[in-house]
Amino acid sequence: MAYTLEDEFGDIIGKARRGQNLSQGETAAAAGITEAELARMEQYTLKPTETQVFRLAEALNLNGDKLLDIATEQWEPEPQTDEANLEVVTISAPVGGWPVNAYLLICKATNDTAIIDTAAHPELILEQLDARNVNPAAILLTHAHGDHTNGLPKLQTETGCHTYIHKNEPKPQSKSTLREVVHGDVLSVGELIVTVVNTPGHTTGGCSFLAQNVAFVGDAIFAGSVGGPNISYQDEIESVRDNILSLPDTVRLFPGHGPSTTVGEEKRHNPFF
Ligand SMILES: [Fe+2]
Repeated sequence: MAYTLEDEFGDIIGKARRGQNLSQGETAAAAGITEAELARMEQYTLKPTETQVFRLAEALNLNGDKLLDIATEQWEPEPQTDEANLEVVTISAPVGGWPVNAYLLICKATNDTAIIDTAAHPELILEQLDARNVNPAAILLTHAHGDHTNGLPKLQTETGCHTYIHKNEPKPQSKSTLREVVHGDVLSVGELIVTVVNTPGHTTGGCSFLAQNVAFVGDAIFAGSVGGPNISYQDEIESVRDNILSLPDTVRLFPGHGPSTTVGEEKRHNPFF
């Protein structure tokens, strides 16, 4: 089976290095390898030895044991299991050659459904809404990057839903007035209570949506990695640690890219934490 994680060893060390404003030269020197070797590792063309994994982990403030498990493809999160009164449908579509996830969060009691992000393919989402005969109730955006929000106007026109996005996030093209949310705000989707949680760092106003035992985390955290820390590495690490990894271990995380995971799995296996 192909290794399914969104990020490989090379992505992880590249994100950690850039996030901490370290050059390839500085990092390579600290880890006792050449700059050319580090560049090849970040490009996936050179596999590190076990010793190199631990040295790089130390140079980049990552957890060496967890990083080694990913470098040697020893860990993948357990697959999604059923939840009692809600259903999560993953809609994965390629954007620029790379898969992006949008989700449906369905209240089983009422069939009311939140659409989380657009994966830039609103027609795939509309097909799923039709096929399942559910009631679109809201569009929730984890962040404004085009691979997660392109096609929003079509989705708004077809569903008539209000769209919610964090107050601090740049705003994507929209057909209707966007409704701004902040940390701690509560929305309802049928009988489900959805809480807004701050997870900035990848973007200025990136946020996650928590509903009972599931959380939609956008590009804040991936299984075994984090999203690119474009705005602030420190904010990304701290907000995920404080607002996501503080949730119960059983909470299942649905990221904007790659497979779903759980809080417990990430605490045990994510080298950034
Ligand atoms: Fe993003």
